[in-house]
Amino acid sequence: MSNFSSVLVTGGCGFIGANFIRYLFDETDFRGKIINIDCLTYSGNPENLSDIVTKYSDRYVFEKLDIINYQEVCRVVETNKVDLIVHFAAESHVDRSIHGPGEFVQTNIVGTFSLLEVVRKLHAEGKKIRFHHVSTDEVFGSLGETGKFLETTPYDPRSPYSASKASSDMLVRAYSHTYGIDITISNCSNNYGPYQFPEKLLPLMICNMLSGKNLPVYGDGKNIRDWLYVRDHCEAVWMIANKGKSGQTYNVGGENEWTNIDLLNSLCEISAELLKKPRDTFKKLIVYVPDRPGHDRRYAIDCEKIKKELGWKQSVTFAEGLRKTVEWYHNNLTWIEHVKSGEYKSWLEKNYGERK
Ligand code: NAD
Ligand code: TYD
Repeated sequence: MSNFSSVLVTGGCGFIGANFIRYLFDETDFRGKIINIDCLTYSGNPENLSDIVTKYSDRYVFEKLDIINYQEVCRVVETNKVDLIVHFAAESHVDRSIHGPGEFVQTNIVGTFSLLEVVRKLHAEGKKIRFHHVSTDEVFGSLGETGKFLETTPYDPRSPYSASKASSDMLVRAYSHTYGIDITISNCSNNYGPYQFPEKLLPLMICNMLSGKNLPVYGDGKNIRDWLYVRDHCEAVWMIANKGKSGQTYNVGGENEWTNIDLLNSLCEISAELLKKPRDTFKKLIVYVPDRPGHDRRYAIDCEKIKKELGWKQSVTFAEGLRKTVEWYHNNLTWIEHVKSGEYKSWLEKNYGERK
């Protein structure tokens, strides 16, 4: 049974946040209320939860709100007697952080600071509230051919995105240490699954295949990422929020390392098979493009701590997860059309021209 009755999710209209809200309602014994605050940036899409709004109308509340707005967040937290905040809201794409780091500093650092101030106020008033901060393995930097990130690995962020996430992690830790607020942190590897915005590797490639566009591989394509199915990540976050020790950090990973080019080749084969096209149809679209500046070579997570202490493990194999993900995009063409229009379209054209 869950410890909480009223959960505030930040960034619930984004990829992982929407999957988390769905997971909580559909797959757990949580019977309380969920309040989703999201200011709906280009990557926040209320359609991600349109069925949830009707199915759980008595237990779901949406507030269009920027996390930086301290007064309003206080109001929402107090009115709804929130006893857990799960903080997903962020600017989340490394490429965007290279083109324009300012928003990353605002949302990821100042926004997290503002939420921590809300928690500090409630804590000082004697209210019981836990803050779970969702972070990334990118704060640890880049690995060589061997080794894995542990919770104790020193931070070495190398992109404006990872630097902003590292800063927010440090603030969360400092607030726990200094003010005694109840916090937990998770650092996870690359998520994949339904509702991911098509600027990240997997959905971008799946969508480009559907529209016959090139598949741009950065550098030599040998960079390695550790892929985690989003539903498994959501389960880990919920376990940590409920059973994690206060003040602790937990790594969450897929134990599933792939070079980008091998992953893309598999994706091309799955897409061709599902669309009943010849096997090499999409591989022909692969093009090597100039590398991302400062491109981290390899990420790999050691997640023994959460396995041993909380009993979490991955439940979806990569073969299953990839297939489900590709099928989801193939079955949700209207969703793709909606998220790719408007602001995203003009940003892509401005920064990448025909390249993506
Ligand atoms: P996303 O970009 O899909 O969603 C972010 C959501 O936050 C959007 O709905 C957006 O509208 C909202 N948001 C942004 N700024 C906001 C603000 N100032 N106020 C309120 N809402 C705001 O991101 P995601 O992939 O779902 O990532 C969620 C979290 O998980 C982030 O903190 C990210 O750093 C972390 N993370 C993601 C991955 C991954 O592979 N996607 C891996 C590790 C960690
Ligand atoms: P991405 O999905 O942006 O996640 P992250 O940079 O946070 O790991 O990228 C995953 C990997 O794919 C990364 O090594 C960069 C590479 N990549 C490409 O080769 N081409 C692309 O168009 C994109 C978006 C990413």
